[in-house]
Amino acid sequence: MIIDRQRVITAFREYVSAYDADDIKIKLKTDHTFRVAAFCHRIAKGEGLDTELSWLCGMLHDIGRFEQVRRFGTFNDALSVDHAVFGADLLFKEGLIGRFATDLSDEERCTVETAIRLHSRYRLPDGIPEGRLKYCKLLRDADKIDILYVNSMIPPEDIYDIPEERFRTSKVSEEVRQCFLNGETVLRSIRKHPADYIVGQVCLAFEIEFPESRRIAKQQGNIEKILSFEPEDPDTAEWFGYMRANFWNIIDSKYNDQ
Ligand SMILES: [Fe+2]
Repeated sequence: MIIDRQRVITAFREYVSAYDADDIKIKLKTDHTFRVAAFCHRIAKGEGLDTELSWLCGMLHDIGRFEQVRRFGTFNDALSVDHAVFGADLLFKEGLIGRFATDLSDEERCTVETAIRLHSRYRLPDGIPEGRLKYCKLLRDADKIDILYVNSMIPPEDIYDIPEERFRTSKVSEEVRQCFLNGETVLRSIRKHPADYIVGQVCLAFEIEFPESRRIAKQQGNIEKILSFEPEDPDTAEWFGYMRANFWNIIDSKYNDQ
């Protein structure tokens, strides 16, 4: 398909300009959007998918974030709205998509809507038609790759609002270790200790679906940055050493990557 990227970028900048430019949350999501769109393009290219449709999914995936933060002052979905569903509704039920692209086919509209609506789910539901499912996975991969980047840049004490010392002296719970060993993502509800959150950050990469996405995640080096955390607790320090040594082996054996 053909997308007028400049039109999308201009419309996006115009849309965002209606929100408080001094609010750091707005800037964070704007920057995240452009990076995710670029990752979507790269993954699509590597996997032989439609780069334009993928890029558009990336550009619009977090559109609900701006209205979420204006209305509720938070990015916490549990305390406000599911930003993915909210964004998909704004675009496809309230017609916001018309500002960005007017010439999508019905199937393209459905693909973009489904990918956006489901991008923040813990797991994708069954029954999504294969043609759309690929774009759902691609968008989630691109989002995860950028979340790894953000988590590598921002100290965990700032992300989770927990004093730094509590991370340094933290234990890692058995259930969370098990997720790592099984190559699974960590549900928020099983995280007990501060260091569990750091383990949870890297476990996100275990469910990156496309080989090209995993190649990009590896190239970025953000897993290593997150795992460079140096705990004071001897057990936790040993566990972090184990994770550093085994992270990519677990990915490789899970997906048979070369
Ligand atoms: Fe999102």
